[in-house]
Amino acid sequence: MNYRHAFHAGNFADVHKHITLLALIESLLRKDTPCIVLETHAGAGIYDLLGGEARRTGEWGEGIGRLVGETKAPAVVRAYLQQVRTLNPEGRLRLYPGSPVLTAATLRPQDRLVLCELEPSTHTALREALKGRKGIAIHARDGWEALKALLPPREAKRGLVLIDPPFEATNELTRLADALIATHKRWPQGVLAAWYPIKDRPPLDRFLRMLRTADLPDLLVSELCIHPPTSGIKLNGSGMVIINTPWKLEDTLHEATAWLHDHLAHTKNAPWRVERLTGG
Ligand SMILES: C[S@@+](CC[C@H](N)C(=O)[O-])C[C@H]1O[C@@H](n2cnc3c(N)ncnc32)[C@H](O)[C@@H]1O
Repeated sequence: MNYRHAFHAGNFADVHKHITLLALIESLLRKDTPCIVLETHAGAGIYDLLGGEARRTGEWGEGIGRLVGETKAPAVVRAYLQQVRTLNPEGRLRLYPGSPVLTAATLRPQDRLVLCELEPSTHTALREALKGRKGIAIHARDGWEALKALLPPREAKRGLVLIDPPFEATNELTRLADALIATHKRWPQGVLAAWYPIKDRPPLDRFLRMLRTADLPDLLVSELCIHPPTSGIKLNGSGMVIINTPWKLEDTLHEATAWLHDHLAHTKNAPWRVERLTGG
């Protein structure tokens, strides 16, 4: 495990993933019934954008750095930007909230957050970032294995799984498709979401075909490219795939992703889409 998310924190892909995540959680919170969010690959929780790793790549300058001052944006984008500002009360952008911190700040007292982070120093940082927060379980365990061990949850009808792996292994897309299909079988009511990198299309088209042919209900993709997806090496775009897409989420994501494309894409030739692949 060499991956360190600190190099990429707050980049355009984090922005797209985190806004999609907040939209998903807001959909779950429409009813008072308790819900659960399980993150299989949680990361450190908080990132220092002025620290060595983030400074070395400067990726956040093309992501949150471009947006933090925006006030006119779709509601879910505004909610996300507000969380970033709350973490930086002095006004200067320095700290960036990872998915566990955004989720913890959005859930209610009756809800449960379960986090898995395998890398020891990242796990320690995550515990520190969420110190004193109630209703949160933080595991130093393999997130892929946790899908089998922890699901279905007691909140059988209301919950979300986020799978956000590092994509270090060459077979990660196949592993992700297999995990989504198996997890849906184990917990058919759960909302499942996963992030994937967009470099060039052929491997992704195979990945999405695997999901489409597996009869997964209400399958939706949200994809934001900032460059045309023509290089197999560079991160050109960010994708989220959702199974059991909540009601009205498609409209929310359509508005938010269009706005993000306007503000983050380097060229109009970089595509974006929010599209249902099954159901609807
Ligand atoms: C892309 S980062 C997570 C970023 C985080 N979800 C966010 O959006 O803020 C992936 C994380 O997964 C961790 N990781 C790698 N393999 C894992 C595994 N098998 N189980 C749990 N965590 C793992 C890495 O240490 C890394 O912190």
